[in-house]
Amino acid sequence: MTFKPIKNICCIGAGYVGGPTMAVIAQKCPDIKVNVVDVNAQRIASWNDENLDNLPIYEPGLKEVISETRGKNLFFSTEIEKAIEEAEMIFISVNTPTKTYGKGKGMAADLKYVELCARKIAEVAKSDKIIVEKSTLPVRTAQAIKSILDNVGTGVKYHILSNPEFLAEGTAINDLHNSDRVLIGGDHTTPEGQAAMDALTHIYERWLPSERILQTNLWSSELSKLTANAFLAQRVSSINSISALCEATGANVEEVAQAIGSDSRIGDKFLKASVGFGGSCFQKDILNLVYICRSLNLKEVADYWEQVIIMNDYQKYRFADNIISTLYNTVTDKKITFFGWAFKKDTNDTRESAAIYVADYLLEDRANIFVYDPKVKTEQIYMDIDNMNTRSEQENRNSLFVINDPYKASKDAHAIAILTEWDEFKTYDWQIIYDQMKKPAFIFDGRNIIDSKKLADIGFKVYQIGKTV
Ligand code: UDX
Ligand code: ADP
Repeated sequence: MTFKPIKNICCIGAGYVGGPTMAVIAQKCPDIKVNVVDVNAQRIASWNDENLDNLPIYEPGLKEVISETRGKNLFFSTEIEKAIEEAEMIFISVNTPTKTYGKGKGMAADLKYVELCARKIAEVAKSDKIIVEKSTLPVRTAQAIKSILDNVGTGVKYHILSNPEFLAEGTAINDLHNSDRVLIGGDHTTPEGQAAMDALTHIYERWLPSERILQTNLWSSELSKLTANAFLAQRVSSINSISALCEATGANVEEVAQAIGSDSRIGDKFLKASVGFGGSCFQKDILNLVYICRSLNLKEVADYWEQVIIMNDYQKYRFADNIISTLYNTVTDKKITFFGWAFKKDTNDTRESAAIYVADYLLEDRANIFVYDPKVKTEQIYMDIDNMNTRSEQENRNSLFVINDPYKASKDAHAIAILTEWDEFKTYDWQIIYDQMKKPAFIFDGRNIIDSKKLADIGFKVYQIGKTV
């Protein structure tokens, strides 16, 4: 059975994954109509905003792709049913956060949004569809989606594919244009299953060499995504664990990283010690892996991966604790300025950002925190700290302030903490900043991005991760 080329795609979920991925598919396949739909009308309105600076997500290069495609073959709307009906291929790109209630609370992926999508598709589809899982999902979710779809008795046939997203935020457009690999999981064993896989392969072949498009069985594809993120996060936790040892011994974590990274078997990527990893994927995927292993009675495997999270929590706590102990064991009523709130540079995403945890810890010691981030909105910062549920919303507003100018944010501060590696931090006039701070002026560089010697020469007391400055 040969596949039929796809002419109409629907993507449910207009977030960090769905938005950029569909924009690039639309750009590379001008003959395919791509409808991106979402229940969040405000988000859709932002995607449709005339002013491309108001897109709901900040991602370098995204504006350009959107301006090339939007209104031509890329459309954003809330008309979910219509888009489902029209499409031959439906991508599910909704969020799958860690469950916050009931069975698997704090560990398992919450699949309620995915399930709602499957039910919506089952309700409205009148013709056969290829369903593509794009959201990060636990192994064997495809089975659950299939079972929902196959049991509605409308006679419509569904082929489920897993096509995990490997883009990293901040570099999403480049990652999509030049993917190392694309995984397409499906059912090789039936001609229809193979045809569905080929139809999706054909889309990616429009801009990627065929050898980078790997077809696997469904379970391998789903598990590969969790495993890739677990391995990457593990490297960060490994180097962060060594950073603590470096600080205690006088070794320099950057020298160690360079030394081990030049062993081609180890490689030099993801060895940057930091205040701790964040983002929507690493923690969630590892917790999910741990939960699946526990459910399958693989206790040792679960414990092994859980340690990656434990180390990451320790790193965030260690950073915050060092601020308190260095500031003479108390930050009560002291002004601490945060440079950066996003979980990494070049994104406005703050999910699981180390900054949230460090702020929460310092607020418990009654610090006054002044946050400056070049891209994150004020409402988002308050939402993040409120979601910690540590104190009342009013208390958060009484002691955490968002300032849109780094020089104002650091005036009269006792200390600056760098939480995100935004490039602009390197270009500031640090002499001006120093002059207007309280003395001794401390700087805690959670990303090792500043020139520590230059700042120490100005007079700053500098602390970096895994180094004794
Ligand atoms: C990750 C995966 O890289 C991507 O393939 C997957 O699709 C989604 O999850 P993302 O979370 O967007 O992408 O960003 P990533 O660049 O992986 O960084 C994750 C976190 O680790 C960030 O907080 C980053 O600052 C931190 N990190 C990364 C380090 O602290 N040190 C490093 O060396 C690398
Ligand atoms: P990701 O990083 O995985 O893309 P986001 O939270 O940025 O996650 O985006 C997921 C999007 O999916 C959100 O905009 C949310 O409104 C949308 N969404 C969630 N459930 C549904 C649903 N049942 N139908 C349509 N859109 C949904």
